[in-house]
Amino acid sequence: MEQTLKISKIREGTVIDHIPAGKAIKVLAILKIDEKGSQTVSVGIRVPSGRIGSKDVVKIEGRYLERFEVDKISLIAPEASISIVKNYEVVEKFRVDLPERVTGIIKCSNRNCITNSKEPVPSEFYVSSKKPLVLRCYYCERNMQEKDILNNL
Ligand code: CTP
Ligand code: ZN
Repeated sequence: MEQTLKISKIREGTVIDHIPAGKAIKVLAILKIDEKGSQTVSVGIRVPSGRIGSKDVVKIEGRYLERFEVDKISLIAPEASISIVKNYEVVEKFRVDLPERVTGIIKCSNRNCITNSKEPVPSEFYVSSKKPLVLRCYYCERNMQEKDILNNL
């Protein structure tokens, strides 16, 4: 007997697949999906995947993601794939891509950084390590580890 968990297909919307196990909740937070809202969302946490692994999956009916949302997801789920579904068919599918520079989507954790002052300076980070993820602020050189990044998304 096949022992796999099936999450219903969606009609129109977005499937975010191959999220690291346990990280779907962060993806929901990035997308501001919470107790309010009207879209149908299916979430699979620690769904069996491959021979020994597990993964998370998020399916959102009737929503397509903005570029900055995909960039944020790439920070916590660099191997995720995103499928755009229309009329039950996958019409587009791509892997998220961790950009070399991360501009304007997370806050620097240094409160004295110029990007946190009243000046209109958008934040900017270089990816100084991919695994584990470390971002370095272009302005104040503060290094941000995954935990700081999650708290400043
Ligand atoms: N999907 C969905 N609803 C649809 C079509 C697809 O929820 N109407 C989901 C599938 O369950 C899968 C993802 O979208 O999680 C990508 O679909 P597809 O490319 O058809 O699946 P696979 O070939 O199994 O993809 P992968 O190898 O990426 O798991
Ligand atoms: Zn800074």
